Amino acid sequence: MKATAPAKIILFGEHAVVYNQPAIAIPVNDVKAFATIETDANLDDPVVRADDFGIEHSLNKKSVPGKIEHIMKALNLVRENSNSGFPDKGWRLSVSSKIPVARGMGSSAAISVVLIKIFFKYLKLDLSPSRLIDLSYELEKFHHGTPSGIDNAVISLGAPILFQKEKGFKVFHPKTFHFVIGDTGIGKKTATVVKDVAARYRKAMASYKAIFEAIGSVANQGLDALSLGQHKKLGRLMNLNQSLLDELGVSSPELEHLIHTALENGALGAKLCGAGKGGCMVALADSIEHAEKISVKLSEAGAKQTFVTTLKRGNGK
Ligand code: MEV
Repeated sequence: MKATAPAKIILFGEHAVVYNQPAIAIPVNDVKAFATIETDANLDDPVVRADDFGIEHSLNKKSVPGKIEHIMKALNLVRENSNSGFPDKGWRLSVSSKIPVARGMGSSAAISVVLIKIFFKYLKLDLSPSRLIDLSYELEKFHHGTPSGIDNAVISLGAPILFQKEKGFKVFHPKTFHFVIGDTGIGKKTATVVKDVAARYRKAMASYKAIFEAIGSVANQGLDALSLGQHKKLGRLMNLNQSLLDELGVSSPELEHLIHTALENGALGAKLCGAGKGGCMVALADSIEHAEKISVKLSEAGAKQTFVTTLKRGNGK
């Protein structure tokens, strides 16, 4: 049996969302994390394989390699939350992911989601979207300290959402938009960047609050632009969000370089996406062809990898 979970990008509102402002996230269905469970009655020892790390680990061994701690946390969480008990032999789990790690594309949330999905499938238990969101949030807390919950929510739902920490989420129905994502190749831990923002916020509360509120208002306007198919307006709002993120101190020269490259090549707007200080940027293109053209320019400008993705009504793709 098999489970998948998409990557995500935040179109508006990263960081401010931690402070209860609205934010918008969309799934990137072309880039995914995968998990499979094979059953094998002869396997006395359950085996976990993390293909990206080349690790194969028997669960009967006491010490757990750090790289598969995530998998063990997920297994324990599902054990605690399922009354049916978890077979202690006869299965082999494999996990892999095409989502770049620590680049703002939700790699850790996607692993959390895909693990919970595959374990529930294996146990033949129903898993409602809200239960998946709640359980994956527990795993996110383990990894990120104070996550807003937007990453695991959008990845659990696989649909574009407006998210607010204390209000929950609303799935919305966008018109068609083409984006290109560029990876600076610089990995940054979300928890570290979020902590740095919190430290600066404590020193200059009034001005940071004003920036968070301005970002929240941009996110609300972004929702209208996405729903109404206002491409130019969406681009302008992305640029505005980028300057506010820069004021928060989470941009970087590498991100700025890719953002400028996209804008110079006709992108309607561009911004960093995710925690920043590295990771990825996203630009809005006129068409798929235009997105492909920007993608080539981003690679020439040093992007380590690029992804072209289309958001449209229905499948969030
Ligand atoms: C990370 O994808 C987005 C942040 O806003 C952190 C969070 O929402 O937990 C930076």
